Amino acid sequence: MTDQCQKPNHLVRYAAKASSLRTWYKYIVTDDKSFHGKTIHNTVDHYIDTLADLDRNQFLSHGRTSDSSIVTIDFLRQNLSPGEKTVSIGAGNGEYEVHLVLDGQDILITDILDAPLSVTRRLFPEVNTRNLDITTNNFEDQYSDLIGAFDNVFVASLFYWLTNDAAEIAIRNMTRLLRPGGCLLVTFRSKDTFLTWFIDEIICRWERPLNAIKRRLITGKPHYVFRNFAGYRRRLSEFQNLLTYQTGLKQISLEFASPHKELQRSTILRLLAIPEILGPLIPHYGAYHNMFVLKYDP
Ligand SMILES: C[S@@+](CC[C@H](N)C(=O)[O-])C[C@H]1O[C@@H](n2cnc3c(N)ncnc32)[C@H](O)[C@@H]1O
Repeated sequence: MTDQCQKPNHLVRYAAKASSLRTWYKYIVTDDKSFHGKTIHNTVDHYIDTLADLDRNQFLSHGRTSDSSIVTIDFLRQNLSPGEKTVSIGAGNGEYEVHLVLDGQDILITDILDAPLSVTRRLFPEVNTRNLDITTNNFEDQYSDLIGAFDNVFVASLFYWLTNDAAEIAIRNMTRLLRPGGCLLVTFRSKDTFLTWFIDEIICRWERPLNAIKRRLITGKPHYVFRNFAGYRRRLSEFQNLLTYQTGLKQISLEFASPHKELQRSTILRLLAIPEILGPLIPHYGAYHNMFVLKYDP
């Protein structure tokens, strides 16, 4: 881990407000012609795969070969200690957290949606789950029994869905869950760099039509491409300021994981072995899963 403590200041904070937030999209191939060429702004529940069709063992082995899954579970194993109480925010189906619960950790798995949590409850009755909206203004009243109750708050891949205003509320509410001296563990996706822009806007845009052609060759049916709202990308410094400016949170460490991951999102780059060749040269530009540990010191 690299120690990257930085003091927030008003000027940087102002820049964060002005915002380099960039909307980004996924390009999706479908056999439904009515989507052709459209841009879809999905509601929150369309984003997640609940893994409802898997059994317990399949659920546990899901994604176990994927970089992001491995590093996230390792990140939790490194930072949670036995006997501590942890709450996970925006956990979806708790795909990572369930492993730690089975190791004996005390984790409350929460999400705004019930659909993914109900899958977790059905497959793992031993797991504690609860519906929780982290962006509500009425947080202390709504979740009074959880205030100050946790040693750790864990949040993976949530912030890219939230605008800066919603993110500020969410961070304030996360600190409300922590006891003083407790830790916020965050995986953050992603930096607003030339590389992410190039892959989002250029490479993905052009390789989806090629994938549509490929799918037609395989299935014999025509396929179409549409653009699907995927969230907002922030600069790392912007996100650090959101986390630390007047929140009582102090950055303890920041780990950059999966440096090849951003490049691997592109089929073309993968086929050309670019992630293997270029990845090691640009470790800090791998946008996926930058992992923060922050201490709550109000
Ligand atoms: C991209 S998914 C991440 C799921 C999981 N943490 C992971 O890393 O695979 C984001 C999750 O945040 C949840 N979410 C969105 N807005 C939320 C809110 N205001 N409060 C709590 N959860 C929210 C969504 O329902 C979704 O399950």
